[in-house]
Formats: sequence, structure tokens, C-alpha cells
Amino acid sequence: MAATIVLGTQWGDEGKGKVVDLLAADADLVVRYHGGNNAGHTLVVNGEKTILNLVPAGVLHPGKVCVLGPGMVIDPEILVREVDALKARGYLTDDRWLRLSEQAHVILPYHRALDRARERMREAGAIGTTGRGIGPAYEDKMARSGVRVGDLFEQGDLRDTLVRSLREKNEILPLLGERPVAVDEILAVIDGYRARLAPFVTDTGAEVRAAIAAGKRVLLEGAQGMLLDVDHGTYPYVTSSNCVAGAASAGAGIPPKAITRVIGITKAYTTRVGGGPFPTELTDALGERLRADGDEYGATTGRPRRCGWFDAVVVRHAVALSGVDGLAVTKLDVLTGMDPVPLCVAYELDGRRLTLPPATQRGWRDATPIYENHPGWREPLGRARSLDDLPANARRYLDALTGAVGVPMVLLSIGAGREQTIVLGQTLAT
Ligand code: IMP
Repeated sequence: MAATIVLGTQWGDEGKGKVVDLLAADADLVVRYHGGNNAGHTLVVNGEKTILNLVPAGVLHPGKVCVLGPGMVIDPEILVREVDALKARGYLTDDRWLRLSEQAHVILPYHRALDRARERMREAGAIGTTGRGIGPAYEDKMARSGVRVGDLFEQGDLRDTLVRSLREKNEILPLLGERPVAVDEILAVIDGYRARLAPFVTDTGAEVRAAIAAGKRVLLEGAQGMLLDVDHGTYPYVTSSNCVAGAASAGAGIPPKAITRVIGITKAYTTRVGGGPFPTELTDALGERLRADGDEYGATTGRPRRCGWFDAVVVRHAVALSGVDGLAVTKLDVLTGMDPVPLCVAYELDGRRLTLPPATQRGWRDATPIYENHPGWREPLGRARSLDDLPANARRYLDALTGAVGVPMVLLSIGAGREQTIVLGQTLAT
């Protein structure tokens, strides 16, 4: 039994797409287990850029089975568009390479309307969601008023569920400045994509469990990042699902014992999109430089990402929560030319030194970073193919980073291309 999880250890956008794409070469199945099209991966293969929001990054390897698991929330309009775009570029030539859980919840137009309306109501306290309806779809799931993928094909039950759900939604929507919606209007939207989804819909949990039992290699692809976890992140500035490794079992429908390895992806500095605390944020020219050099704009919404120095406190938290075995460090090349390169090793809060993050909003607001300054380097790193090719100061910085977090590095990425990667430790094949 061997399933490996790859997940983000910061606030998302750690470069998961590239790492999953690389590891997928040795996997048989790539499974997403939470979130929806709030995620976004930018992949560069043979100089060609592909952005994926729902389909796992493994899709760029023909023959790999990509699974959208039960823990996800699926916007079928987006899924159909993504499938069409992939097929137009010569990927996904066999429908059996994409599997969609009949238990996953469906994002419907009123979820998007509610997401936008709630954000407006929060005014200055807005979370800065992606506006994709993720939170309201998960709310419906927990409130037991959601529509699941399998329900789309049971038309009597579907109508009943929508009638019940919209009775309440149509009271709320006008109060939030949104128009009420008719059941038939939603049914017409669903009619538009039902047949397109049909070839992919299945009991994905059973398929993934069977694959594991047959000795196949399964890669579980986390979305977002650990600090966006609804329980363990910077609540309430989080997403509406669990991002920790523990969520992968329920979200993929596999036993926890099947998971044998956890790889944590961490950017060599820190970014976050949307509102919420970010102790090492740089709001000056250095932050702008990181944004420009790192091309730090959201793959999903195009929003500029907030940028700052590497924060070992948050990554340490993520590593502890998810039992990370090895770190995949990305975008070290972006730090070229910075001197010094500060690295946050702890926070100071109310005169105390914290090595793990606070839990309260007040604690997060008032925590100030304690930095270690490391000497920088000027050489571009993109051509390095082993750690020996790196400037000594870049290696020292990496040693300080992994030392502060307490986990070895298994992979280093020094550019967007597949070839700009140094693999150090065990990945999947071994
Ligand atoms: P939601 O997931 O759209 O509800 O957004 C909640 C918060 O999570 C916002 O701050 C988003 O910017 C952030 N977020 C959601 N998905 C991602 C992601 O894939 N990368 C980075 N931030 C994300």
C-alpha cells in the first residue's frame, strides 16, 4: 500500500502544480481530495503554459488517471471548460483518465452569488475569497442541503433537493442584495452539462482503494496551503476545507494507513492572496520586487499576491500538523540579488518568543517576526542541476531554512521548467 501526499505548507501557491507534475511521472493515479476551482496551478511544459483549476496536474502525463475525490466541491461549468481546453491541446484523449466522484458536492450559480454577497457584507473584514462559491458549497454540504454529483443523474431527487434548498436561499439572497433563483433555472443550467460529466462519474473511493490494493502508486494532491486550513490556519481568513494531511483520507475515501509519505511544498519566501495576517509581509519596494521577480499573481483570479520573507514558524506548524517527511523547496531563484536574505525563525508576542503560531486573531495581529539575516548571492540559479552548482550562500540559506523547520529537503526547484529541478531524496519511484 503506498499513497504519497503532496501539500502546501504556507498560504497556498507554493508551486504545487510543478511538483505534482514531476511526481506524477512515477504515479499511476493522481487524486485531489478537497477544495475546488479556488485552486490554480500554472504549469510550464516544453515552454507551453497551462493553467489548471480542477483537474490534477498529473493530466499532462498521458495515461495517468486523474481523480476528483469525494471531498471536493466541483463547479461543473468550469470542469467542462477545463476538459475542453485540455482536449484541444492534445491531453486527456481517453475519458477513462479522468474520474469524478459521485459524492463530490456541486457548486451551483447561487453559491457564487452568496460568496460575493457575503464578502461585500464583511466590508473591511472581507476574507478576499476567490469568489468561486467554495465556502457556500461547503456550507450546504455541512447543512445537508447540498447537491452531489451523483444527484445530478437522479432527476426526481435533484428537483426535491433544490426545492428545499432554494426555499431558504431565496429568503436570504434578496437580503444580501442578490436576486432569488428559480428551481427550473438551475435545472436548465444542469441540463447544459449533465451529459458532458457522465463519462467521468464513478465511485472514485472504490477505484482508488482497489488501485492501492493492487500495488499502484497513488499521489494525493493537496490544494491551497496548510495555513488556509479551516481548523488549523489563520481563521477566519482561511478556506472552507481542511488542508492538513489528515483530511486526505476522508476526502479521497481511503484508509489513513494507506498514506505512507507526506511531501510538503514550501516556497523559499512567503506569499498570500486575500486578507488576513501575514507577519513577514513586505509592503515596500522589496515586496514589489519579489512579486515582479516571482511573477506572484494568482493563477485563479490574477490578483497580485502579498509577498514577504520565509516564515519558519508557519512551515514548522504545517510540518508538525501533517507529519511532513520531506520538503520540496520552490522558487529559490527568485531570491537572487537580495542581500541580506532575512529568515523568520520565531515570533515575539507579548514579550514571549513563540516557535509555533498563536491561535487567536489578536495573537496573529500582534505577533512580530524575529529574523536571522543571511548573506545573499548574485548568480542566477536556473541552470543549476545539483546542489554543488549553487552559490555557497544559496546553499547556506537552504541549510538555515531546513534547519529552522527541522525537515530535510527532497526536491529543489529553481525555475518554472520541468528541467529546472534538483531531486535529492526519495520521491515516488523509490
Ligand atoms: P475561498 O477558498 O475562495 O473561500 O477563499 C478563502 C481564502 O483562501 C482567500 O484568502 C483565498 O485567496 C485563499 N485561497 C483559496 N484557494 C487558494 C489557492 O489555491 N491558493 C492561494 N490562496 C487560496
